[in-house]
Amino acid sequence: MRIVVMASGSGSNFAAIYQAIIEGKIAAKFVSLIVDKNNAYAIERAQKLGADYHIVNYQDYDTKIAYETEILAILNELNPDLICLAGYMKIIGDTLLNKYEGKIINIHPSMLPKYPGRTALSDALEAGETEIGITTHYVDAGVDTGKIIMQDQFTIDDMNREQIEAKLHKLEHKLYIKTINKIIGE
Ligand code: GRF
Repeated sequence: MRIVVMASGSGSNFAAIYQAIIEGKIAAKFVSLIVDKNNAYAIERAQKLGADYHIVNYQDYDTKIAYETEILAILNELNPDLICLAGYMKIIGDTLLNKYEGKIINIHPSMLPKYPGRTALSDALEAGETEIGITTHYVDAGVDTGKIIMQDQFTIDDMNREQIEAKLHKLEHKLYIKTINKIIGE
């Protein structure tokens, strides 16, 4: 199985997936990371890890279609079996979905279908949730609406926001690795 990861930000999930592959905890080949911003920290992580990466800087394109057409060309070269969105902050458009729907998965910091969208953790905390969820799911045309693959959750007790985020990330890394292994085993 050939795996491509797409990220926009810190890239901790990318690094966890990459390390798990290197350590033989995922029986797959890491092919490349695609990043949509010149300054994403995920790029530094890729450089430190010696991982292949491509930058397709969203701001250099006039339209989303032009931007995704460039990504499509790269993906077609990379020939992935699975595309793992890991903090990739754009909605996947038809240009990519037409070819890759069913092969794109995402991780989201809430117990979907509760709290879709960018502010999931804040929304859950503001709503007074005492359990914070994590979901992996297939990607469709909606915002965090695709078929759920796996979920996990933890109780926040008296943790502050920083502690909650740290725990969330730790569990996300585990859940993403489990999810990829589940898909490989299917
Ligand atoms: C994660 O919390 C993920 O659930 C969300 O974006 C965040 C990415 O974190 N989709 P990182 O860039 O992998 O560190």
